[in-house]
Amino acid sequence: MPNDGWNADYFEDEFDEPDPWDFDSSTYEQRKYRRQNRVVESHVGSPESILEIGCAEGVHSELLLERFPDADLHGIDISEAAVERARERTDSDRATFFAGEASAYLDSLDEQFDVIVWSETIYYLGDTMSVPEFHRFLDVVAGLLSPDGVLCMANIVGQDEGPEAPLTEVPILDAYKTLLAARLDRVHEARYTEPKSEDDAEHTYEVLGYVPSA
Ligand SMILES: C[S@@+](CC[C@H](N)C(=O)[O-])C[C@H]1O[C@@H](n2cnc3c(N)ncnc32)[C@H](O)[C@@H]1O
Repeated sequence: MPNDGWNADYFEDEFDEPDPWDFDSSTYEQRKYRRQNRVVESHVGSPESILEIGCAEGVHSELLLERFPDADLHGIDISEAAVERARERTDSDRATFFAGEASAYLDSLDEQFDVIVWSETIYYLGDTMSVPEFHRFLDVVAGLLSPDGVLCMANIVGQDEGPEAPLTEVPILDAYKTLLAARLDRVHEARYTEPKSEDDAEHTYEVLGYVPSA
């Protein structure tokens, strides 16, 4: 059964205090963002449009806006508090943020984006839908990517503890990769294991890049 626990109330609680996952303060997270930005740059050069799914407080959004000065960015996140902080943080007329559930919001879009950034969020969405629903949702995501665009994501692999642990087991992440590969070509895959000083532990994550199938 899909899990309805990853809802707005859950994430609103998480964002009760700013920066619940140390996105802003952690060198580990900052390195992860830079790695994703390099994938974007190597496949698209200088994008004009970016969609960020699960943008949280806009930490990565801000780096994307700095690194890609020709791009407008649309960010979507289920938490109102996070989106409000993303607006304050970026304070840019090139950025537009929406608070709401991603699958409903993405369904309403009728444009395509040069870049889709979808990091550390696929496993929540995947857990809230049945497999056929998620399969269809990926059609929507893939349909939002421009013919010359790139979809980039980073996902923690096999988180040791915490609520995400059962969502990030390797076979589950592999299943998402299989579903993504059914409509997009994978052009980048790299795995890193690095210390995160904020929680005194090492974590493994993957950075993935996809382009529309040839
Ligand atoms: C772990 S954070 C990752 C934030 C950011 N992408 C990053 O890598 O720094 C996951 C984010 O996804 C958002 N989220 C989870 N489920 C969502 C959904 N169904 N629709 C929109 N946003 C969602 C959460 O509110 C949270 O901000």
